[in-house]
Amino acid sequence: MGELNADVIVECGDTRPSFGQVEDIVEDAEIVLGSSGAITACGAARLGARVAMVGVVGDDWLGEFVLERLRERGVDTTHCLRRPGRRTGMSIVLGSRGDRSILTFPGEIGRLAAADVAPQALAAARHVHVSSYFLQYDLWAGLPGLFRSVRDRGATTSVDPNWDPARDFGHGLPELLPLVDYLLPNEAEAVRIARADGVEEAAAAIAARGACAVVKRGGDGALLHHPDGTVLTVDAPRITPVETTGAGDSFDAGLLASLLTGGDLATALRTASACGALSTQGRGGTAAQPTADQARALAGTLTVTPPEGPLPEGQGREKQ
Ligand SMILES: Nc1ncnc2c1ncn2[C@@H]1O[C@H](COP(=O)(O)OP(=O)(O)OP(=O)(O)O)[C@@H](O)[C@H]1O
Ligand SMILES: [Mg+2]
Repeated sequence: MGELNADVIVECGDTRPSFGQVEDIVEDAEIVLGSSGAITACGAARLGARVAMVGVVGDDWLGEFVLERLRERGVDTTHCLRRPGRRTGMSIVLGSRGDRSILTFPGEIGRLAAADVAPQALAAARHVHVSSYFLQYDLWAGLPGLFRSVRDRGATTSVDPNWDPARDFGHGLPELLPLVDYLLPNEAEAVRIARADGVEEAAAAIAARGACAVVKRGGDGALLHHPDGTVLTVDAPRITPVETTGAGDSFDAGLLASLLTGGDLATALRTASACGALSTQGRGGTAAQPTADQARALAGTLTVTPPEGPLPEGQGREKQ
């Protein structure tokens, strides 16, 4: 369940956007499928998972573009909604030598409510992932009830919060954590959500509320803290990114696809890190997403480590 939008990816190089009627030439620009939810869905489909997307677009050409790109990637869009008279969201991603600035016109991005989710879509799901929690404001009120029903059926849940443009990092997410199996923030998001000083403290605080925290750390890999006390870290492959949009979403896809095919936490973490890194080898979120074989080959080269030093009293550690 996620926000849906297109990305206009502009590679600025050393050029800085300037106001005052100035025009500059850039190195590259392209319109591609955007949104954390769609990129995660495509990544999981590429890895061989059966994926259905639930999200909202407008009835403009951009909405059709987004749905068409999803279908092309093997994602079922039957349960996506096209709202008459409304406009599809769009992000302008200004990239500059590995850094970036994103300007988002939300359109229908936040307009998916729990009541819009077809019961047959939920009934068929072994796992429900929610992307960009903070952008999907219409979902906040109904999500606890929806997650409760998902878990009552024995299915699992995950949330990638992504950045909160309101800089609040609350909006009901801390209260939702006991119903979330996996929370997948990056480091900056994790410390803000947990109101913590550092990444380890943040991951521990999230785990203490009942969710397995998997915190993404860019070129430094990722850190996992499970409510059962398991703490694992994984390194990131040494690669030179071409464009990093969607690395976190492809990481999510790798983690979830691995867990849903029976992978243990360490295997899922390795797969996730490999998928995140490989996705940076092309422009846009989906162009370079790996197949299961490609992900496995790179994942096998990565190291998962228990942290230095003893774990706090009474906490176990799962075998790798
Ligand atoms: N420069 C890099 N080198 C190697 N691997 C990387 C690099 N950047 C990202 N990755 C891989 O992708 C994963 C997720 O990236 P990142 O930490 O940037 O997530 P994110 O901030 O959620 O990204 P997004 O902007 O897509 O939301 C990392 O944990 C790592 O495995
Ligand atoms: Mg992210």
